[in-house]
Amino acid sequence: MIELIQIAPLRAWRSDRRAEGQRIALVPTMGFLHEGHLRLVDAAQARADLVVLSIFVNPLQFGPTEDLDRYPRDLDRDRRMAESRGVALLFRPSVETMYPPGAETRIVPGSTASRWEGAMRPGHFTGVLTVVAKLFHLVDPDLACFGQKDFQQVTLIRQMVRDFDWPIEIHMVETMREPDGLALSSRNAYLNPDDRMVARELSLALDAAHRAWKGGEGRARNLEAVIRSRLGGKPQLQVDYIAVTDPTCLTPVEEANADSIIAIAARVGATRLIDNIRLGEGIG
Ligand code: PAJ
Repeated sequence: MIELIQIAPLRAWRSDRRAEGQRIALVPTMGFLHEGHLRLVDAAQARADLVVLSIFVNPLQFGPTEDLDRYPRDLDRDRRMAESRGVALLFRPSVETMYPPGAETRIVPGSTASRWEGAMRPGHFTGVLTVVAKLFHLVDPDLACFGQKDFQQVTLIRQMVRDFDWPIEIHMVETMREPDGLALSSRNAYLNPDDRMVARELSLALDAAHRAWKGGEGRARNLEAVIRSRLGGKPQLQVDYIAVTDPTCLTPVEEANADSIIAIAARVGATRLIDNIRLGEGIG
């Protein structure tokens, strides 16, 4: 596995691979890799000749009171995990490389960014799209893989690629979960044992809504109530939102169907967690 931290050798590598006709996939991450990230690598391997994995904890997408300073990191472990799944190139630029002094230009996300995560985390998606746009231009991939766990993120990235006519396929990979249903996340490392027990309620609540829908309940308001009643009464769990939405523009629906997305965000102790399902699929 090649490891690069500078832009010039990355570009040189890319242009050599292009000359050879290699199909390149990019998997952008913030590191502290887990099996969910590695599923993106597997999906990328299946669709390309070579996989580039990026690790960059992007300061632009963290709010002033968020966890940038304590975001978990373990480069040695990440390196071993990436190598074990056949990553061809690990790109891990510094903040100074990605944002040299005076780098002020930003990507303004579509209106979908004003809802849900975007409403809770002002500026977050501007930071995400700006870094993803930059990575796309540096790596120049034929395709890129993103996780369904961050459904609003992949929706906005798809829109950016469409709006700017970039020739990059965006592939969404289903959420990888712990045996009890908790969606894998680098932030799960923050959970103490008590919080970890409570964190599983998010996926259990989504599963309860899925079962209610399969049992004939289609009204979004009632599905939301199923979730709220499951998550209620747990003092260390605070719900930020429960969204029953259309899968493309993420606007709320009144009547849910198999394609509708149910997304939830909650704080468990000091840790913020998100999860979602497509109603026709459930938690899988
Ligand atoms: P990060 O949280 O490290 O996630 C990197 C990628 O892994 C994202 O596409 C995310 O959706 C996916 N992912 C995370 N948990 C997953 C799981 N349990 N199953 C499947 N995929 C999962 O998302 C980001 O970083 C950043 O915003 C980034 C896109 C890298 C831009 O900075």
